[in-house]
Amino acid sequence: MKNAMNPHFKKHILCIGAGYVGGPTMAMIAHKCPDYRVTIVDINPERIAQWNSDRLPIYEPGLDEIVRSARGRNLLFSTDIEKGIQESEIIFVSVNTPTKTFGVGAGMAADLQYWEKTARQILKSATSDKIIVEKSTLPVRTARAMERILFSENNGVHFEVLSNPEFLAEGTAIRDLEAPDRVLIGSRQTEKGLEARQQLADIYANWVPQERILTTDIWSSELSKLVANAFLAQRISSINAIAALCEKTEADVSQVARAVGMDTRIGGRFLHASVGFGGSCFKKDILNLVYICRHYGLNEVANYWQGVIDINEYQQEHFVVTMLNAMFNTLAGKRICLFGFAFKADTGDTRESPAIYIARRLMEEHADLVITDPKALDNAKMDLKDSKGNVCFVDNPYEAASGCHAIAVMTEWRQFRELDYERIYRSMVKPAFIFDGRNIVDHQRLFETGFNVYPTGKPVLTHL
Ligand code: UDX
Ligand code: ADP
Repeated sequence: MKNAMNPHFKKHILCIGAGYVGGPTMAMIAHKCPDYRVTIVDINPERIAQWNSDRLPIYEPGLDEIVRSARGRNLLFSTDIEKGIQESEIIFVSVNTPTKTFGVGAGMAADLQYWEKTARQILKSATSDKIIVEKSTLPVRTARAMERILFSENNGVHFEVLSNPEFLAEGTAIRDLEAPDRVLIGSRQTEKGLEARQQLADIYANWVPQERILTTDIWSSELSKLVANAFLAQRISSINAIAALCEKTEADVSQVARAVGMDTRIGGRFLHASVGFGGSCFKKDILNLVYICRHYGLNEVANYWQGVIDINEYQQEHFVVTMLNAMFNTLAGKRICLFGFAFKADTGDTRESPAIYIARRLMEEHADLVITDPKALDNAKMDLKDSKGNVCFVDNPYEAASGCHAIAVMTEWRQFRELDYERIYRSMVKPAFIFDGRNIVDHQRLFETGFNVYPTGKPVLTHL
């Protein structure tokens, strides 16, 4: 059946929030469902202008092609939120939900102000029935709060709220969206709830196999998202905790991870020891989980999950202390090159990147910093703009490392594996150090080149 609002399209979909989640997800829906018109709106006009330009606001492999194929056909970017709401039957909400920085729950609970404003705007502008899809990661029972706002006026418009958490990871967003492990849809178990759920499932059914579309009640869906992220982060903290033990005992964490991960009950993924996890989700979601558990008096459960964050913070500080100890207990006036600033490879995103904490700590030790990253230098500049200390940003890694006392690998960019480290070694101050927070370089080879090599969770290789 064609849509009454615009006969060319079966349905009109709106997404509020054109960020890392909303942008790629809607681009994929538009790409896979030419029958649906997908409009993405945002309060930030610059962001929308970028989405409409040749230089998209986020870097994500494969995204450019998908946006280009659908933009102007059935994918539109706009700042007219009111019109967008009026013209659509299904509204995805993917505005940001950072951790609160003030008041009750500061540093723990999600800051729902953007999200509540969106709910109020939908209520104000809607003149016909809507399905509202919660896409942002939110604390459990947020859908209920949204319903309360939406049902607060009796204006004859019916809103059906669904939870449809997004599981994509940055850097692999397009692959994850194209072939998701699962799509999760939470709805009320009423007739209208089930009907709305079916409408959303019909969209995904255009490319996702039926058996991968899971349906649950709303709260289970909301909680599943927090728990999936908490489990993934827990694996990283677990292996990082073992990395610290390996460093003391001269075991090799990669070999331990391999042996452990080959147990099919455990599995080998997300067991790479590192300088710590970053990204906008893991810490925020675990903090939410901890906050909810405390709210319900489940203090032991809250402490258990808090431990995952504590180990992550320990890991970052441990990295700085290792550098300090190795470099004769002083970094003052030494030039240190950070290889990478993004929280992971293949993204320009630096939110919660361990590199931010480490850069600040190194500056506190009065080190001079040179930062290089293929995609994240603009964000790095913003992250460090208020920091006191000497820091410069250099595109070319050879230039960046030249004249430095040490290199610290922060991000696992493939480019950093493939550099000519003999050339880099020759250009550095001796003794030259490399601290590999991602275990990506060839440690033995670099040692033979002359470097003092400090991997993560493996024996050090030093000439001193
Ligand atoms: C995560 C979830 O994977 C995704 O499902 C959810 O929708 C959003 O949060 P993202 O944060 O984009 O995705 O990236 P992810 O690949 O999970 O990596 C998170 C952090 O963990 C990165 O800093 C990464 O470098 C680090 N990491 C990952 C490790 O240190 N070791 C590993 O073995 C895996
Ligand atoms: P995520 O990683 O969850 O996608 P981002 O910060 O990348 O988060 O994106 C969230 C987007 O939501 C931002 O572009 C922001 O401008 C937008 N946004 C926040 N509040 C509103 C609102 N009330 N209406 C429309 N867009 C909003």
